[in-house]
Amino acid sequence: MNNLPDALKNMFLLDPEITFLNHGSYGACPKPVFKSYQKYQMELEMHPVKFMQEDVYRLLEISRKSLSDYINCDKDDLIYVSNPTHAVGTVIHNISINPGDEVLSTNLEYGSCDRMWTYDSEQKDYKYIQADITLPIENKEEFLNEFWSSANEQTKYIFISQITSSTGMILPIPDIVIEAKKRGIKTIIDGAHVPAHIPLDIKELDPDYYTGALHKWLCCPKGISFLYVKKEYQEGIQPMVKSWGWGEEYEKFKSSIQLHSPSRFINVFQWQGTTDMSAFFTVPEAIQFQNEYDWKTVRSRCFDMVIEARNRITDITKLPKICPDSWLGHMATILFPIEDTASFKKTLYNDYQIEIPVMSHKDNTAFRISVQGYNSEADIDHLINSLEELI
Ligand SMILES: Cc1ncc(COP(=O)(O)O)c(C=O)c1O
Repeated sequence: MNNLPDALKNMFLLDPEITFLNHGSYGACPKPVFKSYQKYQMELEMHPVKFMQEDVYRLLEISRKSLSDYINCDKDDLIYVSNPTHAVGTVIHNISINPGDEVLSTNLEYGSCDRMWTYDSEQKDYKYIQADITLPIENKEEFLNEFWSSANEQTKYIFISQITSSTGMILPIPDIVIEAKKRGIKTIIDGAHVPAHIPLDIKELDPDYYTGALHKWLCCPKGISFLYVKKEYQEGIQPMVKSWGWGEEYEKFKSSIQLHSPSRFINVFQWQGTTDMSAFFTVPEAIQFQNEYDWKTVRSRCFDMVIEARNRITDITKLPKICPDSWLGHMATILFPIEDTASFKKTLYNDYQIEIPVMSHKDNTAFRISVQGYNSEADIDHLINSLEELI
């Protein structure tokens, strides 16, 4: 077991010269999964027509079945898109909202999604409310009280991350979904960091809309995410791009539509024009890879390393921790005194070969560490020794 991080390091394509503690941004793909990705790409280039017109649909079905077993939902309740921004954009495109209504969110959301909500709310004259979350978080009750204090009769939707990008914190989403239901508010959950990070059971959580990235913690190649839509909202849902699977309800299109699935939801979304969907087919291989390497154990070793690293760094800085240990998984954002965040990041990369994101929020500066199966204690030691030199 002790040599597992080294063995796993060998299984990934990451440059061994870099201490890579930033899995959270775009993930990293193990060699066997990447190999099967390339095998699909090869098939596509060898048989472009057969692959695009026949194989794609069969492979998508197999992949959706595998993912739906993994996150516990019906395989026809989810579609693949390249990234969570695309998934959230699709939901925003479809929400039914009136001037004066409100969407409740937080000030911890991902920038691309904030931008889409801001644009849409200005166009349609509703309010996008970002509850100001006070850090450090003391406990769940305080967080929930602060969040719900921004809700009111006008709140029609909640948009919130289950694990936030800027802080790495795991938010109490099951509590929020339960309370939202009681208040008649629909939930749109941004679970970009969730699949293969913390358990996800869609049927149990029962959100209205949910997106997760699969190239992050499940380690698929770049460019695969899913959008889950509860059955009752699938009927009229529209893709942002309408293509050959769209229009079965229109007489004039009926004769030219090739229906690949009994589900309209699947048909209107899965063909979006010529594109390389090879990453979409790799879900079964990625799940199999993590099963083979006992990822439950790998994950718990990573979680321990995150807590230990955070303890060691805050011992040096004497700065507060932004949340209790139990709010963390594979990632932690740690306050650190930094004069110029851009040059600090450059120095870490150029002089110490360390890859981590560095950020500033209000008056604080911080960085985020991610620990994945390929990271070893030596990576953390190198980070901490370097920080000691730089502080
Ligand atoms: C919480 C969260 N939401 C959404 C996204 C959007 O991802 P992308 O830019 O790939 O669409 C990210 C990306 O890291 C994220 O962390």
